Amino acid sequence: MSLDAAQHTRGESLFTDDLPEPEGCTFGAVFTSTIAHGKVLALHTDEALAAPGVVRILTAADVPGENQIGAIVPDEPLFAETDVHHEGQPIAMVIATTPEAARAARHLIRVDFKELEPVTCPREAARRGHFIVPSRTLGNANQAKLTDAFKKAHVVVEGTASMGGQEHLYLENQASLAAPLEGGRMRIFAGTQGPTAVQRVAARVLDLPMSAIEVEVKRLGGGFGGKEDQATPWATFAALGALVTGRPVKVALQREEDMISTGKRHPYDADWKIGLDEEGKIVAYEATLFQNAGASADLSPAILERSLFHGTGSYFVPATRITAHSCRTNLVPFTAFRGFGGPQGMFVIESALARAAEVMGRNPEELQAINLLTEGDRFPFGQIADGCHARRGFQEAAERYDLAGQRNSVDAFNTANVRHKRGLGVMPVCFGISFTNTMMNQAGALVHIYTDGSVHVATGAVEMGQGVTAKLRAIAHHVLECDIERITIATTSTTTVANTSPTAASAGADLNGMAVKIACEQLRQRLDDLRAKLDRKTAWPELIATAHAERIHLSCGAHYSTPKLEYNKELESGNPFAYHVFGTAITQATVDCLRGTYTIDSVHIVHDAGRSLAPLIDQGQVEGALAQGIGWLTLEDLQFSDQGRLLSRALATYKAPDIYSSPGDVRVTFLEDADNPTAVLGSKGIGEPPLMYGIGAYFAIRAAARQFRTRANGGDLLQAPLTPERLLMYLHG
Ligand code: MTE
Ligand code: HPA
Ligand code: MOS
Repeated sequence: MSLDAAQHTRGESLFTDDLPEPEGCTFGAVFTSTIAHGKVLALHTDEALAAPGVVRILTAADVPGENQIGAIVPDEPLFAETDVHHEGQPIAMVIATTPEAARAARHLIRVDFKELEPVTCPREAARRGHFIVPSRTLGNANQAKLTDAFKKAHVVVEGTASMGGQEHLYLENQASLAAPLEGGRMRIFAGTQGPTAVQRVAARVLDLPMSAIEVEVKRLGGGFGGKEDQATPWATFAALGALVTGRPVKVALQREEDMISTGKRHPYDADWKIGLDEEGKIVAYEATLFQNAGASADLSPAILERSLFHGTGSYFVPATRITAHSCRTNLVPFTAFRGFGGPQGMFVIESALARAAEVMGRNPEELQAINLLTEGDRFPFGQIADGCHARRGFQEAAERYDLAGQRNSVDAFNTANVRHKRGLGVMPVCFGISFTNTMMNQAGALVHIYTDGSVHVATGAVEMGQGVTAKLRAIAHHVLECDIERITIATTSTTTVANTSPTAASAGADLNGMAVKIACEQLRQRLDDLRAKLDRKTAWPELIATAHAERIHLSCGAHYSTPKLEYNKELESGNPFAYHVFGTAITQATVDCLRGTYTIDSVHIVHDAGRSLAPLIDQGQVEGALAQGIGWLTLEDLQFSDQGRLLSRALATYKAPDIYSSPGDVRVTFLEDADNPTAVLGSKGIGEPPLMYGIGAYFAIRAAARQFRTRANGGDLLQAPLTPERLLMYLHG
């Protein structure tokens, strides 16, 4: 068991809201828009200001620097001023002596709005030309070549697909605590995946140099992408409050405000068209993706890019063109969520293949198998698939878990049963590791060995339950070879390791681990040189004491940048990824066709973890990601009204995956002899790729339902999530 796990289960781990409150601490409650689109005619705060315990009310007028938090596009004010673009958009913040007083006073703020018509549908936004950034088209064929390929196809199938958003539902809501330090400095304890992002934005808003702001992160009670960019405003509110009042300010959201005011996974709509030859090989694929970006850019352009990169899934497609639109709507700005646009891109091509199989009267897994990427194939963006385990993963899963036998038993079940039907869904995953923004693929580490032989390892990595701390510790241990108990991983702070990328893109252990490895290797070299001089076996504490006596430097900083990455956006061509992660899941589901309810009976996975740095952690990552993926596609029904108001704003109206909805039989095996030469100690990133195994559950349920309802007029059922309600409507027209 990792140290963290023991502490968590004993309730000893501190999260941001558990930190001891400093002397004179105050509390911020953020007042947000109740409408999705409108003009702010007047803001009335007098009554709130007079309420008990209220210290101050902040608005845009109190921002000394720029009232701007947009990271990729400067299109998002910290505080709305003249207009609001989504429900939950911050307008003012009450600071009071207790959290209860702050929230009570917040109710007394009033706004005169002039309501404007909101747009909530991405296709409608596209019709109006409301795009966040210019649309992008990626592919290995021009229009003429693509048209030609479709002409030569044996079958051509077209359709649409849509996917809902997803709440992160991290156990710990967004929270930050800022405290003024002497000399005009500011310390922020932030619940963020991106301490540097918080530092940069807080500096811009507070009009301070970055060097005057220290951001510290002990751990997160889950992030899942929801704290990559969107922890920043809450930390900045706290810091601004601390600057203006001179007192510590804590901003900790309650579940409902978190659900209303923070971004989620992007809903997507898509059109697709696929052409196959007689054998079932894909000869042409065309898709248009409509990303619902919400009201401002946030990370949407980067997420859109990853949808494009994963638009052909695990398959080789000789002629393809995928166009993606980032559509501006009046919903909360959608943001990073495990998979970062990849799942949406993959769902669309899986939808196309599933339909093509039906039209051709074939089993979908046959079509999947013959189209898988092979070593040396080119992705549509030009990168060559090397170290490609797409076929190996699929075959190993098929053999180990007897895919043919499962197919026969499912078919036999369906022949024998009328009310209950069973479905099989196979999901091959191919996911690129690296930030698609090449610049972000760098990390630093700072390692100290103290004179008593204890070792302190600092990086920019944030622990959010994914086990990066344990992995970094294992790497330091591997290189230094001292007792592992001597090694501690430091609290993440912008003062120890600067200019860091967020812990994201499944690359936290890859990037920070490499930096740790380099730093430890340099220390190891110094110690080895000393050992050689001493010419005797020396225990670690003595070795370190001697090194200090010999005036050898026992600290080392190091920096790592992933080699060979480059991408040309004009040409839509290059090598955005250091490598890909592969694997295959085989899922069985049973549907009660009278009631529309279903169970996911089994999910059997072969996953490529490289040479795992921590097999138990990686197994937990696969299982957790799978549950999250199944949740996204089957249960979690993010709903907005036509007026742009979030309807699923509590756990009573938003179904989260739980033990009852989890598959009865989950098996995970790792691909053997899969050392990855392109990441630290042969490992591979693990955090995001297994989420996409959940797509198999969707197609298993869908396949079962189509055994019951075989008539063509039932619709294509390519609308996620496949909730029991939606399934019932489909089954019974
Ligand atoms: N696992 C837990 N328990 N909690 C999390 O918040 N985030 C996921 C994944 N696994 C997450 C998690 C996401 S979105 C990413 S990108 C990776 O962990 C980030 O961590 P890593 O890069 O260290 O794998
Ligand atoms: N993945 C995850 N997070 C990111 C990325 C990415 O590719 N780019 C910027 N933030
Ligand atoms: Mo993960 S969505 O890259 O934080």
